[in-house]
Amino acid sequence: MRSTHDDVLKVLISEDEISKRVGEIAVQIDEYYSKSDKKLLLLGILKGSVVFMAELMKRIEIPVEIDFMKVSSYGGSTVSSKNLTILLDLNRKNLEENDVLIVEDIIDSGRTLSYLVDYIKLKGAASVRTCTLLDKPSRREVDFLPDFCGFTIPDEFVIGYGLDFDEKYRALPYVGILKPELYEKR
Ligand code: IMP
Ligand code: MG
Repeated sequence: MRSTHDDVLKVLISEDEISKRVGEIAVQIDEYYSKSDKKLLLLGILKGSVVFMAELMKRIEIPVEIDFMKVSSYGGSTVSSKNLTILLDLNRKNLEENDVLIVEDIIDSGRTLSYLVDYIKLKGAASVRTCTLLDKPSRREVDFLPDFCGFTIPDEFVIGYGLDFDEKYRALPYVGILKPELYEKR
């Protein structure tokens, strides 16, 4: 049987470590938003955030609504693209009734989230905050700090737990580093 695990050079963050950390973030989110009189909307950015989003929403205890947006991504390369296109927009009425928490898989250049925060503010949300599973601060091209963050990682291209390379490896239950020869095969 061909297993995607065989393509992984190293597990960077194990399933158990992620699970524990997601629980801690959920507690922080519960504490932070329990003081608000608005409805919390978790806004997942497709597709990378789906695994994190699914785990996080189960661990948050205050009431949440969910929605998704999709923005243009990599197209198989390991370099972040500078031009962002909205492929699936957020179409909700009365966004002023919502605290929006954008849920992302990883922050790299910072361009995606800094753009989206402004975009959702313009749409009239009561507040806009960000939550990312992973952060690669050494790669920043624009100033950006997440409000909630799972793990700060070094400048390595990672896959698994929602993150892909060329649409593959999203289903791996941990965050790992691919064998370098697999990037070169393309
Ligand atoms: P940014 O706009 O450069 O911050 O890029 C964020 C997006 O780039 C994320 O939502 C991911 O889709 C993608 N990305 C950045 N680094 C990685 C990585 O190491 N593995 C997989 N996707 C990544
Ligand atoms: Mg993404």
